[in-house]
Amino acid sequence: MCSEPTRRGRGLAMKILVTGGAGFIGSNFLNLMAPRHPDHLFINVDKLTYAANLFSLKDIEHLPNYVFEKIDIADPEAVMAVFRRYEPDRVIHFAAESHVDRSIMEPARFIWTNVVGTFNLLEACRMTWGRKEGRLFHHVSTDEVYGFLGETGGYFTEETKYDPSSPYSASKAASDHLVRSYYKTFGLPIEITNCSNNYGPRQFPEKLIPLMILNALEERPLPIYGKGQNVRDWLYVEDHCEAIWTVIEKGRVSETYNIGGNSEKTNLEVVQAICRILAEETGRPAEDFEKLITFVPDRPGHDFRYAIDASKIKRELGWAPKESFESGLRKTVRWYLQNRDWVEKVRTDEYRRWLAVNYSERTRLDAGD
Ligand code: NAD
Ligand code: DAU
Repeated sequence: MCSEPTRRGRGLAMKILVTGGAGFIGSNFLNLMAPRHPDHLFINVDKLTYAANLFSLKDIEHLPNYVFEKIDIADPEAVMAVFRRYEPDRVIHFAAESHVDRSIMEPARFIWTNVVGTFNLLEACRMTWGRKEGRLFHHVSTDEVYGFLGETGGYFTEETKYDPSSPYSASKAASDHLVRSYYKTFGLPIEITNCSNNYGPRQFPEKLIPLMILNALEERPLPIYGKGQNVRDWLYVEDHCEAIWTVIEKGRVSETYNIGGNSEKTNLEVVQAICRILAEETGRPAEDFEKLITFVPDRPGHDFRYAIDASKIKRELGWAPKESFESGLRKTVRWYLQNRDWVEKVRTDEYRRWLAVNYSERTRLDAGD
């Protein structure tokens, strides 16, 4: 059993409930923060969906300040039970259905997890925290709530109007509104961060960067939607985790902070960079990988460009990303080359079915059906 933290409050020992800690960003967050903060107890609450992998937590699972609870946040009784059991001081809410393409195929579960799940957590905080000091609900959100930008159309700031395009981004926007409403109506101490595209170790290979690395290594097509000219702002995952910790430590309650990498790239540029780095790391010619690039029919409602103005978090809290796109991408490629056991564990039947459905559907559309 875990040792009970004795001190409370900002900067002191806390019980931190992390939702979605077996997913991509949550597991990177726990791998960084649990060893660094042995006085805090980290309670990982995760349903273990297809996107989760407990193997991502093998380096910290033995730590006395880490516990795991398999919980569906869409189940209000299970959420209340975990709050009664641990009485957390802080919630860092990562858990979500997070893949835009899946939200186009199967939107319902995005509403259950992202909207109802967030509501259940907020209710549990309201019921158990009352007006106690030192509590905080940190909501991890996305730049996709702001919609899309034109080729030269400026940046998303914290003041940009919400204009989501997909069931995923609409469900995240709804959850952001709920979180703010609990501050305005009940005085619940909250803060929200809206971040750009993350990449790095332990990302499920349905997202652009790990999908391309693994397909290239196996000489399978590299499927680029449309003409590959859509732009994303890429941030190395550990920089995102450090930004979240900075906001928890130094941010102002009820505020929103945008987080971004100052690394805008077209999707084609990203895939070409992966091919180049793979060639350098494996000693093979880049053309071996580049010849696999295949343009496929576009994602419906595909947002053209995302770009974050991250000046507020830099000015107020002193956070800036440490990795460049080049250094972060090289670390990522090396991680996937060196962690084949992790890769094999995520390649379940469900994963293979998803690839077959998503990409055969695109080929069918391409054929004019
Ligand atoms: P992910 O899909 O890799 O992981 C999500 C985790 O949540 C998984 O471990 C899954 O099992 C868990 N989960 C899903 N439904 C659940 C439920 N009903 N109950 C409990 N657990 C559940 O996602 P990610 O990429 O790590 O994203 C984490 C958060 O960050 C999400 O809220 C996402 O919207 C946000 N975000 C992601 C990015 C990105 O580029 N990946 C960028 C900005 C913001
Ligand atoms: O901006 C933050 C968001 O970034 C997060 O909120 C989401 O959780 C996260 O999934 C990510 O969303 P995107 O839709 O931008 O990520 P994805 O990796 O799915 O796609 C990145 C870009 O690459 C996008 O323009 C679509 C394109 N793409 C994607 C895949 C999977 C392709 O061209 N081919 C592909 O096979």
